[in-house]
Amino acid sequence: MSLTETTRLISLTGGEGDQEAIRLAARLLKSGKLVAFPTETVYGLGADGLNAAAVACIFAVKGRPQDNPLILHVDTIRRAKSLAGRFDERAQALADAFWPGPLTLVLPKGEAVPALCSAGLPSVAVRMPAHPVALRLIREADTPLAAPSANLSGRPSPTTAAHCMEDLKGRIPLILDGGPCKVGLESTVLSLLDDGPRLLRPGAVTLEQLEKVAGPVKLDPAVLSKPDDTAPAVSPGMKYKHYAPRARLILVRGDRDAFLRFINTKKQPGVFALVYDEDAADAALPCLTLGSRQKPEAWAAALFAALRRLDELGAAVVYAPSPSPEGMGLAVYNRLIRAAAYNEVNAQ
Ligand code: TXA
Ligand code: MG
Repeated sequence: MSLTETTRLISLTGGEGDQEAIRLAARLLKSGKLVAFPTETVYGLGADGLNAAAVACIFAVKGRPQDNPLILHVDTIRRAKSLAGRFDERAQALADAFWPGPLTLVLPKGEAVPALCSAGLPSVAVRMPAHPVALRLIREADTPLAAPSANLSGRPSPTTAAHCMEDLKGRIPLILDGGPCKVGLESTVLSLLDDGPRLLRPGAVTLEQLEKVAGPVKLDPAVLSKPDDTAPAVSPGMKYKHYAPRARLILVRGDRDAFLRFINTKKQPGVFALVYDEDAADAALPCLTLGSRQKPEAWAAALFAALRRLDELGAAVVYAPSPSPEGMGLAVYNRLIRAAAYNEVNAQ
């Protein structure tokens, strides 16, 4: 990809004054260009989802493998229905409960969706984001926006406009800055295909919340353990190493005392730790704190920025506690274990 574009960054407040920037972004999108925009989860790299050539640019700009399908972002349930071959009662109930919000539904694909968008699969992923800028942009462009996270493939997802700039400067014409993303991890991905609800990627809409609305939900094995390379992946994105910092990340299982005892034997130049706020004073290594042990939401919001920061600090090895995989903790654990390439040790 040649670095030829001048990338404009426009700051938005979420108020009416943003209209001009949103119109400019919508015009670029309608002419087949890419625009990075804020959502409540992470920043998205948007293209007109019904324009196959624009969708192809997403793969080129990100360096994304073409067998990894994209999520289509909508502003109304009507638009969601126009993309799906079937939008049944369960989809409706989930949309009523969680949209706009951090939930992506995988549904049978409708004819309007370009094959490239769904990577040739018979399904399509759809979500209605909760960020006002994202919703206004989709409405103004009057088309579903195909949008993966606005990072280069393999880098941590961007939770600020500055992260988008780091990865995409010179590759796209416009980044809309809506401030830091509230959730900080990508949306929950739930498949509603024929074998019943299946959680493909955990996020801020938790398994427990989904089951209250949709009944029992199967947990795809790839959420917690390394996908079997020989079997076809249900969610193709799961098979790629993701969220990778340049440092070697190692998860440490064990209670507070065991964790601290373990990491405190590892003090060496280039070795860092991610720790709970409560533990920072007792850690002998240079460390970044991401929030309280009681608040997996705080870890979610801070995690990707911390992975980028560790790279800037030149970390060679990073230890982090294995979070308990309940509620939002499941999403944090899923991203950490993948960033660690499934490298987890027991300190107990
Ligand atoms: O929060 C989010 O979902 C963000 C923001 C921008 O909305 N987007 C995002 O997109 O994380 P991306 O492309 O980084 O991740 C999409 C995930 C991938 O793991 C992909 O494999 C999966 O959704 N996916 C997309 N379409 C699918 C389909 N038809 N069947 C199964 N998985 C699908
Ligand atoms: Mg991504």
